[in-house]
Amino acid sequence: MKTIFLIPLAALCLIIGAYPLAYLVTDGKFGLLQLKSEAVVSDEWWRLAFYSHIITGGVALSVGWSQFVNSWRQHHPEIHRRVGKVYVFMVCVSGVAAICLAPRSTTGWIAGSGFGSLGIFWLYVTLQAYISIRQGKRQEHKRMMVYSYSACCSAVTLRLWLPFLLSVLRLDFAVAYPIVAWLSWVPNLLVAHAINSRPVKKPPMFSQVPQYQSSTETEGQS
Ligand code: HEM
Repeated sequence: MKTIFLIPLAALCLIIGAYPLAYLVTDGKFGLLQLKSEAVVSDEWWRLAFYSHIITGGVALSVGWSQFVNSWRQHHPEIHRRVGKVYVFMVCVSGVAAICLAPRSTTGWIAGSGFGSLGIFWLYVTLQAYISIRQGKRQEHKRMMVYSYSACCSAVTLRLWLPFLLSVLRLDFAVAYPIVAWLSWVPNLLVAHAINSRPVKKPPMFSQVPQYQSSTETEGQS
């Protein structure tokens, strides 16, 4: 990925990735928890899903961008594999927890269906990415990981779109929140699709290198 895009992306992902810590240090008197009914907040299962979701989601977001740094991936393939496994594990926990949280989303079913669809999509493409690399399908792995991280970055875009809808367009929260549950990820998906639709530049040696051996030499063309 080009440095000009990567640096602001990494900065945003690290900041938003650390944001769940605010819930831990404020002992539950913060953000979304203040909007929830007592019945929801006091539900042990909901709390388990909520804290699992935000902590593992924060880790996935904080580490995921580094996997797109071509030089790191080429020079430290072992670190790429380990960080990738951490990312996939965090997505699995955070995604399942998000799907559990979605039906009780603030403002109702439109927001809930937006987050629920996102959670299913995030899990699906991440697991596809993992399965494809285990099968040695590197290009498919890259394509699926671009989709996966675009979904992960909805945590960032949500927190950019929401203030825009509330402060610039002056929408009520009850209107803005269901919109943002979709707006946070559908445009990201289109960007990911555009990235994945670019022609793949193959180095001259590519066809001679078996896919399962080529993790360091032939990657880094996107
Ligand atoms: C990409 C798939 C994701 C889905 C489907 C998803 C879904 C959800 C849902 C359903 C809620 C509860 C909303 C409500 O009750 O109104 C929520 C809240 C939250 N999520 Fe996620 N989320 C995702 C990714 C992430 C990531 C990567 C982070 C990392 C920072 C994150 C951090 C949070 C936080 C901090 C909250 C509490 C609300 C707030 O303070 O803004 N989520 N998410």
